[in-house]
Amino acid sequence: MKVLIADKFPERYIEQIRGLGSQVSYEPRFEAAEIVENIADKDVVVVRSTKVTAEAIEATQNLSLIIRAGAGTNNIDKQAASCRGVYVANCPGMNSIAVAELAMGLICALDRRIVENTIDLRNGIWNKAEYSQADGLYGKVLGVVGVGKIGEELIKRARVFGFQLKAYSRSLTPDKAKAIGVACVPSVAELVPQCDIISVHLAAAPETEGIISKEIIDSMKPGAYFINTARAELVDEAALLEAVQAGRIRVGTDLYRDEPEGKTAAFESELSKAATVYGTHHIGASTTQAQNAVAAETVRILKLFLKTGRVENWVNRLVKTPANWQLVVRHHDKPGVLAAVLSCLKEDNVNAEEIENVIFEGAQAACCTIQVDTKPSSETLEKISALEGQVIHSELMGIG
Ligand code: 3PG
Repeated sequence: MKVLIADKFPERYIEQIRGLGSQVSYEPRFEAAEIVENIADKDVVVVRSTKVTAEAIEATQNLSLIIRAGAGTNNIDKQAASCRGVYVANCPGMNSIAVAELAMGLICALDRRIVENTIDLRNGIWNKAEYSQADGLYGKVLGVVGVGKIGEELIKRARVFGFQLKAYSRSLTPDKAKAIGVACVPSVAELVPQCDIISVHLAAAPETEGIISKEIIDSMKPGAYFINTARAELVDEAALLEAVQAGRIRVGTDLYRDEPEGKTAAFESELSKAATVYGTHHIGASTTQAQNAVAAETVRILKLFLKTGRVENWVNRLVKTPANWQLVVRHHDKPGVLAAVLSCLKEDNVNAEEIENVIFEGAQAACCTIQVDTKPSSETLEKISALEGQVIHSELMGIG
C-alpha cells in the first residue's frame, strides 16, 4: 500500500506506518498543487491542514482513504471523495486538550493584558500602574458555544477557575449539561448577551457558517472577550473587527478568514493587527502531545483498514441511506448464493444499498442482510426463498 503523508507528522509514527508494510512518501512541505502532482499511484493520503482538492482526488485511480490527522475535515473535498467512493476519516478528540489549553491561555492573557505587559517590558517600560487594573476571572460568566470534545475540555479547566458556566450546543441535553456542570441555554442568541466571555468550539459546516453573525457580535456585553480557537468560517470577521475597533469587545483568535494555506507566509490582516486582538498562528492543535496523540490515532485507523477494510471515524458515510426495506437471507455458506439472490433483486430492478454477510460457527451457514431501496415483489421474494440448496430462509422487513 502506498501512503502519502503530505504534512508534518512525527517520525516515530511514520516508522509504525512503514512497519505495516506500507511504502510511505513523507512530504511535510507539500501544498495542495503538489498533492495533485504526486497522488496518482497513492492508496492512502494523510494530511493535517493541507488541502485535498477535487482535482487531487480525480487525479488518482487507486485512492481509497484520506485520513485527516486532526479534527476538522473542511480542507478535504468530501463531496469529490464521496463521488469516487473514497473514505475520509479524522481523528476527533485527539487534540482537544491542546485546543482547550490555548483557549484558556487566551482568556487569561486578555484579562491581564499579558501581551502589552511583555511588549512594554521589551521596550524598557515598567508600568505597574497601567497593568494593575484587571478585574479577575473568578465568578465571571463563560459561555461555551459547542460542547463537543474540545468544549468539554475547556469546561473542565474553566470549572477549576471558578467561572459560572453556560453553554449552547445542538446536542446538549439537560442531563448532559447537569453532568458536566453547565447551564444549558437553548440558542446562541440567548447565550451570548448573558456572558462575560464567549468561547466557540464548533466544526465548520454549512449549518455553522457565520453562526457568530453581526447580530450575535453586537449582542455581546460591552467589554466582553470573544475567543475563537475553532474555525474562521464560524464568524462574521468584518463585524468582529468593527466591534473591536469600536472598543466594545476584546478578542483572542487562532483563526483568520484569509489565513495562508502554507506553513510560513507573509500575512496582512486587519483583525490580527488590531491592538485589542490577541492572535496566534492557527496553532491550537500544534503541541507535541496533541500531534503524537493524533499520529497514534492515524496509525490505528490505517492498521484496522489494512487488516479488516473497515474505516474508523469515517466522516463521509451517508447518514440515512435511501433504503426502506431490509431482506434477511439465512443461507448455506457456499459459492454463488449471494450472486443468485442479487440477481433476483436485479431482475426486479431493486437496488441493494448496504449489505452485511456474517458466518456462523462451523462455516456451514451464513446470514446476509441486504438493505434495499424499494420493496421487492412477492414473486421475487418467493424466487429467493425457493433457491433450492442455497437459501435456508428469507424474510423482508420495513426499516427507517
Ligand atoms: C484540527 O482541525 O484538528 C485543527 O484545526 C488542527 O489543524 P492542524 O493539524 O492543521 O494544526
